Amino acid sequence: MFEHLSALPADPILGLLTKYREDSHPQKVDLGVGVYKDPAGNTPILDCVKTAEKLRTDSETTKVYIGPTGSAPFNELMNALAFGADHPVVQTRRIRTVSTPGGTGALRVAAEFIAKCKPGATIWVSDPTWANHTGLFQAAGLTVKTYPYYDYDNKCLKFDEMLTALKQVGAEDAVLLHACCHNPSGQDLSTAQWDAVVEVAKDKGFLPFIDMAYQGFGDGVDEDAYGVRAMAAAVENMVLASSCSKNFGLYRERIGACSIIGKDSAQADVSLSVLLYVVRCIYSMPPAHGAAIVETILGSAELKAQWLDELKVMRDRINGNRAMLVNKLHALGASRDFSFIARQKGMFSFLGISEAQVNTLMKDYSIYMVGSSRISIAGISEDNVDYLAKSIIAVL
Ligand code: LMR
Repeated sequence: MFEHLSALPADPILGLLTKYREDSHPQKVDLGVGVYKDPAGNTPILDCVKTAEKLRTDSETTKVYIGPTGSAPFNELMNALAFGADHPVVQTRRIRTVSTPGGTGALRVAAEFIAKCKPGATIWVSDPTWANHTGLFQAAGLTVKTYPYYDYDNKCLKFDEMLTALKQVGAEDAVLLHACCHNPSGQDLSTAQWDAVVEVAKDKGFLPFIDMAYQGFGDGVDEDAYGVRAMAAAVENMVLASSCSKNFGLYRERIGACSIIGKDSAQADVSLSVLLYVVRCIYSMPPAHGAAIVETILGSAELKAQWLDELKVMRDRINGNRAMLVNKLHALGASRDFSFIARQKGMFSFLGISEAQVNTLMKDYSIYMVGSSRISIAGISEDNVDYLAKSIIAVL
């Protein structure tokens, strides 16, 4: 049976991990996968996570099954984090949340849920979007189409075109929006632009499906949730996929959440029953350890304050890296204006070079980034910025 298989290429993002690890160049630079790195190039465990983990290990009494919804306290705390505890959808009990294996698990569960609402439904994603969105939605049987988003020439949003496209979307389609820190472009909607998109969603009646993988990495935990909260306050139905991989640094624990908003509490209950069926058929129930860490942190005023501080350190470092690269390129006389990198948000930006130039950077300089020229900003450091900027200028 296996002879019918043909080998598939490595994942365009995760494949870089192996290439980078196998490279012995002393000055190699990893701008591939979106993980936070400290100035020494390490991805540390947050102090608040270490404390929470210890507390949990000491107090844990069982490893019995947790059930497909995952941890109820985690789900509630995640609702408060995403929407705010006072948000009408929380207060009127229109929201149902399940813990999921990472943000990717949340996206897949949500996609399967949409396919249950309407088999083969169309989902509109931004052009461009995270490389895994398309495969993941297609695997759930959805039809993926794109709406205009990033203007590669002018390094800004194609906002008018985006809005025009969204006005054509059918009421039975879903539209995927990035809450903040757009992956891969780093180009976010302003609050006024969110308001305009919310108006269109309300008017057209399509299902807004928001992916929030980087809450706290843009402007702050509440600021980054502006679109989520505004959309949830305006529409009857909405889906949210959130991740604790980046903001809690829990990458390998695989913890995230999938939330469904119903038009009323009864519809939310029906939706939850479908969600639980979906979960049971894929992985039965989510892992518990990551959720236990997050609920310990968010449930303690002291640990939450510490987490917000540690998150700010990560956010500030990424923003600092953006400015540092732009300044270095400018100081070294780059023939192009890279100032857009300092204006964009979150973990990623496109350098705006060709795939051939990306390959030269990889082969001749051991600098790794996705073929689209997406760079993971956290991989820049005081130690490598000079080499990086000189190498970029050399291939321009
Ligand atoms: C990324 O885009 O680099 C991250 O979200 C990691 C991943 O799974 O692709």
